[in-house]
Amino acid sequence: MANSIYTVPRSKRIQTEVAVIGSGAAGLRAAIALHEQGIQPLVLGKRPRADAHTVLAAGGINAALGTMDPADSWVTHAADTLHEGHMLSDPEVVEILCREAPQAIDDLLTYGVPFARGNDGRLLQRYFGAHCYRRTCFVGDYTGRAMIKALVAEIDRRNITILENMYVTDILLTNGRVSGVLAFKLVDGTALAIETGSVVLAAGGHIHIYRRSSSRRRENTGDGIALALRVGAQIADMELVQFHPTGMVWPEEAEGTLVTEAVRGEGGRLYNAKGERYMANYDAERMELSTRDRVALANYNEILEGRGTSHGGVWLDISHIPATTIQDRLPKMIQQFQTYGGVDITRDPMEVAPTAHYSMGGVRVEPDTHSTGVPGLYAAGETTAGVHGANRLGGNSLVECMVFGRRAGEAAADYVASHATTAIDTDQLSTCLAHGQQLARTNRDTALSLIDNLQQTMWQHAGMVRDEAGLSQALRTIHAMREQQAVVPQKGAPHMANLSAALDLKSMLLSAEATVLSALLRTESRGAHQRRDYPQTAPDWQQTVVAALHNDEVVLSTVDIPQPAPEIVQALEEYAQLAVAGRLLE
Ligand code: FUM
Repeated sequence: MANSIYTVPRSKRIQTEVAVIGSGAAGLRAAIALHEQGIQPLVLGKRPRADAHTVLAAGGINAALGTMDPADSWVTHAADTLHEGHMLSDPEVVEILCREAPQAIDDLLTYGVPFARGNDGRLLQRYFGAHCYRRTCFVGDYTGRAMIKALVAEIDRRNITILENMYVTDILLTNGRVSGVLAFKLVDGTALAIETGSVVLAAGGHIHIYRRSSSRRRENTGDGIALALRVGAQIADMELVQFHPTGMVWPEEAEGTLVTEAVRGEGGRLYNAKGERYMANYDAERMELSTRDRVALANYNEILEGRGTSHGGVWLDISHIPATTIQDRLPKMIQQFQTYGGVDITRDPMEVAPTAHYSMGGVRVEPDTHSTGVPGLYAAGETTAGVHGANRLGGNSLVECMVFGRRAGEAAADYVASHATTAIDTDQLSTCLAHGQQLARTNRDTALSLIDNLQQTMWQHAGMVRDEAGLSQALRTIHAMREQQAVVPQKGAPHMANLSAALDLKSMLLSAEATVLSALLRTESRGAHQRRDYPQTAPDWQQTVVAALHNDEVVLSTVDIPQPAPEIVQALEEYAQLAVAGRLLE
């Protein structure tokens, strides 16, 4: 590793009006919006170009287009989102999302996304769990990959630079305003200081803190959450982690890999090891297309109560559907199960179990602009809180990235138009570089083994069903690991592999701590947050748990959730069934 980790020579300082951290759908859409406003942004991605986490999003993207069900409307989409989120979403954010979702689909069509169409040319929309209508547009079962391909092509068309394989370690402030970003090249550790007037943070979530998750290594390590917290932004809803009902359970290298909800959307059925189609006992009306939180808990219960498969899963079967339909709608699933374990899903069932899938909490943002409250800092996508409440509807994340990526980009453009760029504070830069230098000497194996320990701890004590004793145990372990991290042997030459492992650990510990503290505070069960010791939903807890960093300590508070707009309230009142959160544990 070059000496570049010690200093950033002038030649390694670059300037951009706005830096976008993250090259997934939200980051790329923000960059396009900036360009539309006459700004040439710079995109920094931790993953290789065109391979951000969005490529794993499978089943589709929601918008109330009414192509299949003309009665659908943005109001119903909003009511579904709020109701199935157990009324913890920010209604204003949800309203914007659902009103602007059709525009997001139009944008994607303009960029060239080949959404599935019927013979008559209209866009097809599939069922996803707990939506009143078919409103999920799709490209087979690789919608996210198709979106990234088209977004990257649009980025290229506009000559926007993506710096791939970059690890962003710090957002720099001067006089309380964004003035720069410090990043390291993952290939050789070269440091890069980027002078910028504004940052759009679109760096994903934190579900890699769990042993079994639908993330790949080195993604969703809570970087966005940690970067924002450290410059004074607030985060919210950290206890609300979505567990997808169906992740692969074996072979080991595939454990946790997403088995798309589109399998159930296309008619897939769940069975326990006794051959019972058990969803009848949990949601007889919606069966496999019940909400994710309920299907995940049903799977969890079946396995816990001894009706699971030999690998600790349940069966998901779609073999009753014609093979040609499966080949057309679920090609990726066919390939995934062939590759891992040689299962032919057109003939045999898939073995699945819940897997940590999505951070419903994250950076707290103002609804319209997605400003974080830190002057010059905006955020969008899974990094943020607000849309999903206690249970995310499948297909709402991709549209969130598109709608709020655009809005955050536009707001950042407005901000830099009216605020002159301030110079990077060189003392601050030196401090951050020195810290990087120290972390680059961290013993990598020790850092990786602490990460492993953290993932086991979170899965065991802060997973799908929690209680005070387990959460307190998790907190003690996290605190002990934080102490250990501070004294991990630092010797030898600095190396980027050490630095990235140490940084992953640091962000994961911080987001895990915020998750556990928030889960301890919320003494009720609601949606994805299930407390064994508080099985009921408590009306008083229709509140948002907010966290901030004070003197390096995570400090919590709660805020009330505003009322939705009158037309959404009316739609909500029309729901025959009220929330039944917690009933599986009663
Ligand atoms: O199951 C899925 O295809 C996931 C979709 C989503 O998380 O929105």
